[in-house]
Amino acid sequence: MNNTAPKQKTEDLVMDSTLRPSRWDEYIGQTAAKERLRIFIDAARQRKGALDHVLLYGPPGLGKTTLSYLIAKELGVNIKVTSGPAIEKVGDIASILTNLSPYDVLFIDEAHRLNKVIEEILYPAMEQRTLDIILGKGPSARTIQLDLPPFTLISATTRVGLLSAPLRSRFGITTKLDFYNEEELEKILHRSAQILTVKIEEAAINYISKSSRNTPRVANRLLKRIRDYADIKNQGHIDLSTAKNALQMLEVDELGLEPTDRKILEIIISKFSGGPVGVQALAAGTFEEIETIEEVYEPYLMQIGFLERTPRGRVATPAAYKHLGLHLPQQENTLLG
Ligand code: ADE
Repeated sequence: MNNTAPKQKTEDLVMDSTLRPSRWDEYIGQTAAKERLRIFIDAARQRKGALDHVLLYGPPGLGKTTLSYLIAKELGVNIKVTSGPAIEKVGDIASILTNLSPYDVLFIDEAHRLNKVIEEILYPAMEQRTLDIILGKGPSARTIQLDLPPFTLISATTRVGLLSAPLRSRFGITTKLDFYNEEELEKILHRSAQILTVKIEEAAINYISKSSRNTPRVANRLLKRIRDYADIKNQGHIDLSTAKNALQMLEVDELGLEPTDRKILEIIISKFSGGPVGVQALAAGTFEEIETIEEVYEPYLMQIGFLERTPRGRVATPAAYKHLGLHLPQQENTLLG
């Protein structure tokens, strides 16, 4: 199993708990997902049963972990938290499962990084609440079967396509989290600014929300860095020009693009005439892991219409040329049809 986590992942796990919503109604956005989950949670409570297993997927930073904590809270049960790469041995998952109390939520982050052997233990555990353990090898091998309490597995992944079909099919509830719109990000920034007790003007909130890659984690991270900048340069007061200057210092442009985003687009445009180009070339050119390019950078570049994934590789769109101030050659026009 590949255990080299992309750099960004480490940060993903260190979510700032002071800014994390601790109540269901504080969680902004993801309205459709919340509405659906609300019904399934209420139904499970009403019949005094366990909520069916839940699979949450979508790009990093959209609140999958936060939502999982809130689901457990709404169910009135405990949550045990782990992640795909942290469960290395059969003994690890056996110990986690046998230590669950009835109706607990088990949260497994980065579920696409679970190894096959662990996945196979999860199948019967999810389906019939049994833990099948094989003792010994060869003809003398025996299987022991332990009963597990009713529980809810919530798995989160940024790469749902990498989950094996048998595992995916065992989740009764599958929900995709979407990018946030500007209004939702503004609400999140207002809330965070209040918690962090920073003085911030409306125009600055609006500007930051546009540079946040439609992602709450990015919005909160930018807010904290802009606060640092404002503390030193403007007596802690964040007005529009302070926000702009701070973002300029951070090399984040008005669409939220960072140096690596721009580098990706420049490689496609300058070195490969606009594409198509394989992701390997982009990883090599930016010194990033392929996984990071695919999970962190590309989803947003595609969301804003700057990049397309085609069967032959990545292609930069005319909008990307325009944003970078580059001339679009005639042939690129026809390539994208
Ligand atoms: N902080 C991060 N994500 C959030 C969300 N969805 N709602 C409120 N605050 C958040």
